[in-house]
Amino acid sequence: MNYDIKTTELALTGKQRIDWADRFMPVLASIRARFETERPLDGFTIAACLHVTTETANLMKTLKAGGAEVALCASNPLSTQDDVAASLVADEQIGVFAINGEDTETYYQHIDATLALHPTITMDDGADLVSRLHSEETNPALVEQVAAGTEETTTGVIRLKSMAAEGVLKYPIIAVNDAQTKHFFDNRYGTGQSTLDGIIRATNLLLAGTTVVVAGYGWCGRGVANRARGLGAKVIVTEVTALRALEAVMDGFRVMPMTEAVKEAELVITLTGDIHVLRKEHFEVMKDGALIANSGHFNVEIDIPALEALSIAKNTAREFIEEYTLADGRKLFLIGEGRLVNLTAAEGHPASVMDMSFATQALSVEHIAKNRDSLQKGVYDVPVAIDENVARLKLEAFGIQIDTLTPAQEKYLNSWEMGT
Ligand code: NAI
Repeated sequence: MNYDIKTTELALTGKQRIDWADRFMPVLASIRARFETERPLDGFTIAACLHVTTETANLMKTLKAGGAEVALCASNPLSTQDDVAASLVADEQIGVFAINGEDTETYYQHIDATLALHPTITMDDGADLVSRLHSEETNPALVEQVAAGTEETTTGVIRLKSMAAEGVLKYPIIAVNDAQTKHFFDNRYGTGQSTLDGIIRATNLLLAGTTVVVAGYGWCGRGVANRARGLGAKVIVTEVTALRALEAVMDGFRVMPMTEAVKEAELVITLTGDIHVLRKEHFEVMKDGALIANSGHFNVEIDIPALEALSIAKNTAREFIEEYTLADGRKLFLIGEGRLVNLTAAEGHPASVMDMSFATQALSVEHIAKNRDSLQKGVYDVPVAIDENVARLKLEAFGIQIDTLTPAQEKYLNSWEMGT
C-alpha cells in the first residue's frame, strides 16, 4: 500500500478522535454494518479527494467495509488532520496522500497518487480531482475507466455543471451537495457553527456586541449570520441577489453594500463561492484592527494579493492570524490565510451533521455501483429515495417519531377534486 503522510506516530490520537466522531454518526454506522454483509462495492476502486478529518475517516471505513479499494487525498492543503491520516494508514490500511500545510505542487502530486489507483469511482469536494483527471497532465486512459463520481460541495457542483455545459465532462457525477439532507443541514448548521468555532479558536473573540459582516446569504451564510446573532453579534449581511438580500432583511438583518458594511465591521466573513468579495476598495476603508475570514470553498473570496500590495508590513500575530500593516498605520488581521476557516482553525463540521452528508455519499456510491451501466454523462441530483432514507434514519437515530398520513389524508392530498 502506498501512502504519503506526515507520520504514522500520531495514529493513536487519530483513532481516538475518529472513534469519538463515530459516536455521533449513527446513520453512517448503520450503512457500514449493512455494507459489511452485502459488500455492494466489491471490485470498485475509489479515489477520494475530501478534507482529511475524523468524519471523512469514518466514510472511508464505510466504503472499505462495502468492499471498495480506497485512496484518499486532501481537498484543501490546510484542512488535513495529520493524526487522522496516520490512523487511516496504520489502523485501516487505507492509502492516504495528505500532509497539513503541503504546497500546491505536493497537493496535486497527492491527487495524482490517488489516480494511480485507476479509480472506477471518484469522490470529490470542490472538483479539483475531477478537473485534474480531465486535464492534459493526466493519462487520458484513466478517465475512460471511471464509472461515475460524487461531488460534496456547492463550488464543485458549479464547476462540474460548467464542464458538463461545455461538453467536456466525461462521466456522470451525483451532486451530493444538492441533496436536501446535505445542504439544508451541513451548509447551514455545520458551516454555521464551525465557521464561528474556527474564528473563536483562532482569536478568542467575544462575539457579543461585535459588528460582524457576513458576505453571502446562501445556505452557509444564513447559518453563520443566524448563529453569530445568537451569540450577541450585530450582524450585517451583504448580497448580490435581490431575493437572498430580501430574505436577510426579513430575517431581521441590516443589508448594505460591502463598501458601507466594512466601515462598521470588526469581523468580516465571506461565504459566497465568488472571487474578490473583499478587495482593495474595501481594505482602504476598513476599521483599524478588523478581522477577516473566509469560509467559502476556495481562498479567492478575499483578494489577498491586493491586501499584500497595500501593506507595508506583515507579521504573524498568533497562530492562524497574519497581521497586515497598511501605509496609514491601520492593521488588518487575516485568519487562516483566507482558506476555509472552519477547517484551518477548527475541526470542520461537527460529526453529527457530517453523518447525513456522508451517509448520502455512501448511498450515492452504492447507487453508482448498482447502476453503473445505465448512468449517462452529466451532473445528477441524488435520487429522492436516498434523501428520504437518510432523513428517516437520522430521525430514528435521534429517537424521534413523526406522524404518518391517514388513508383519507393521502387521498385528499393526491386529489384535485376535493376542494372543500
Ligand atoms: P449558495 O449558492 O447557497 O450561496 C452563496 C451566496 O453568495 C448566494 O446567495 C450569492 O448570491 C451570494 N454571493 C455571490 N457573490 C457575492 C458577492 N460578491 N457578494 C455578496 N454575496 C455574494 O452557496 P453555499 O452553499 O452557501 O456555499 C457558499 C460557499 O461555501 C461555496 O464556496 C461552498 O462550496 C462553500 N462551502 C463551505 C463549507 C465549509 O465547510 N466551510 C461547507 C459547504 C459549502
